[in-house]
Amino acid sequence: MTDQDQPIQRKIRSFVMRATRMTDGQKKSLDQNWVKYGLALAEGELDIQKTFSKDADTVLEIGFGMGDSFVDMAIAAPEKNFIGIEVHLPGIGRMLNRTETEQVPNIRCYKEDAVEILNDCIADSSLATVQLFFPDPWHKKRHHKRRIVQLEFAQLLRSKLKTGGTFHMATDWENYAEHMMDVMEAAEGFENAAGVGKFQDGRPAHRPVTKFEKRGQRLGHGVWDLIYTKVD
Ligand SMILES: C[S@@+](CC[C@H](N)C(=O)[O-])C[C@H]1O[C@@H](n2cnc3c(N)ncnc32)[C@H](O)[C@@H]1O
Repeated sequence: MTDQDQPIQRKIRSFVMRATRMTDGQKKSLDQNWVKYGLALAEGELDIQKTFSKDADTVLEIGFGMGDSFVDMAIAAPEKNFIGIEVHLPGIGRMLNRTETEQVPNIRCYKEDAVEILNDCIADSSLATVQLFFPDPWHKKRHHKRRIVQLEFAQLLRSKLKTGGTFHMATDWENYAEHMMDVMEAAEGFENAAGVGKFQDGRPAHRPVTKFEKRGQRLGHGVWDLIYTKVD
């Protein structure tokens, strides 16, 4: 078999690119602010200390959506570094608009697949926290393989977190909450901060309500938070 005869191996991604239109404001913000806050996969391993001009606890959020809760958290914890990863450009435009308008110096952002960024750009044992709030739930059983929380993903995060660092997830879809629990209880090197098999008792005070969560609340959905600590 020659290389040309090989079937094309398509990567299973946790997102589909939506053909959403950007508002003029979002587009302008992206054009003007990217140079100041943007990071790129092609730049390779990130030098966190140089990028933020300080050696501090670093929080990485995957899929910040429209970004309001992400920016709120960065404002509330100016002593920490915040790296956001999102592929939805209108959300990035909006998030950067707030970052610039409200002068939030501790934010940087990638606009590529979080799994690739983690693999290629984030040094081992460099993160204090990884946040994954309301990831795409992929409701249908045949789509469950697209859910970002999988054993392999947990081990990727384990390699990037410092010992004692945390992986904080939240979802409003019960079946995904159970899936997260099953994966993380089986994942080596992590301990459930609420106790084996337990969800957090309500929304932790440091996590603001997100846009997607508000939508779930209007639909009468519950919310499940899970926090796992890297123990080795
Ligand atoms: C359901 S939305 C939730 C957004 C936000 N966290 C909130 O709660 O409002 C999930 C987001 O994750 C992003 N996403 C999914 N997989 C991703 C990946 N592999 N890398 C970066 N972003 C991703 C999607 O573009 C989407 O905006």
